Amino acid sequence: MEFSKRLDLFGEEIFAALNSRKVELEAQGQKIYNMSVGTPDFETAPHIKQALLDAAAVQDNWKYSLRDLPELLEAVCAYYARRYQVSVTPAQIASCYGSQDGIGHIGLALCNEGDTVLLPTPCYPVFIAGSLLCGAKPWYYPMTKETGFLPNVAEIPEEIAKQAKYMIVSLPANPLGSVGSPEVYAEIVAFAKKYDILVIHDNAYSDIVFDGRTCGSFLSVPGAMDVGVEFFSLSKSFNMTGARVSFLVGRSDVIAAFKKIRSQIDFGMFLPVQKAAIAALTGPTDLVQAQCAQYQARRDALCGGLRGIGWDVPDSHGSMFVWAPLPPRYQNSMAFCLELVEKSGVLCTPGSSFGPLGEGYVRFALTQRVEEIQKAVAAIAASGILA
Ligand SMILES: Cc1ncc(COP(=O)(O)O)c(C=O)c1O
Repeated sequence: MEFSKRLDLFGEEIFAALNSRKVELEAQGQKIYNMSVGTPDFETAPHIKQALLDAAAVQDNWKYSLRDLPELLEAVCAYYARRYQVSVTPAQIASCYGSQDGIGHIGLALCNEGDTVLLPTPCYPVFIAGSLLCGAKPWYYPMTKETGFLPNVAEIPEEIAKQAKYMIVSLPANPLGSVGSPEVYAEIVAFAKKYDILVIHDNAYSDIVFDGRTCGSFLSVPGAMDVGVEFFSLSKSFNMTGARVSFLVGRSDVIAAFKKIRSQIDFGMFLPVQKAAIAALTGPTDLVQAQCAQYQARRDALCGGLRGIGWDVPDSHGSMFVWAPLPPRYQNSMAFCLELVEKSGVLCTPGSSFGPLGEGYVRFALTQRVEEIQKAVAAIAASGILA
């Protein structure tokens, strides 16, 4: 059978080689420190689990839901007001099965074949996949050491800006660990207004920022509501990655277009998951804050630990990731990852999987406890890979 040309836009699964090596090493009894995938290891709060269990016991909740429950939309509105000081109405909210799903599909509502879109590089891979699926042409703006790992709209050429349909911004950034500032956001809003570009902010990590930094919603920036929408995921703050809950929030014309696309392919989120989301959004958030402190302790153990053994890895400022430049005698991040897991059992992700400017780095996910991270650092030191 001849498959679609669209499939050819996507390369081979680069993790396959790394993963099969990991499986082989594990089978040989090698201890693996898996710091590759960004799935939180923290517990989901009991009140969230209970809400899902209670709702699952009710037969009616197993039918198509067909819509976002009004109380779910109200819960998002109340959460945005309380947590982010942003006022939104239910018409400014649409659910999706995680930001991954939402970002993968939103371009279908926004773009025609050949439209230009602005994406950060390095970036979270679905930003690229979503643009390719809708036939858009990505133009990558750099988020590198030179830009402080932040967007710099002044560097985007005017002829590109004039053509651009949307711009994805995502801070705190995966894989970079950088955190935005009011000044950076203000520049982005002014740029988007000037060139009539929709800003799609992917807000996955506002609750994981370090060293006293604070972080909120892009929509709280003056003028952002005129030019932007935001994906707000429950995955990381509430340890609900498998439940697949996120919301697109913001400009109502964009929300309506997004809903129109979704309604062609979906019958609504499983009602027990909607109930769990309501419990998360309306319940206590002390665990969210406590877990941020633990991520910071892990960041300290990893970045401080690696510097202590001679690998100059800067502290990440937020997100659950550390972006580490390759040690001096390495150039290829995939080759380095394979050698690292081989010699030390530590598994991380090659920078080359995060877009054009990702090479030269690897990404560690802070998904192990401090004691395990300390052991991982000791294993790296003992492996001799930094010699
Ligand atoms: C920047 C970013 N956006 C989106 C996602 C996916 O979130 P969700 O679980 O809501 O699909 C991730 C997950 O790692 C992420 O890092």
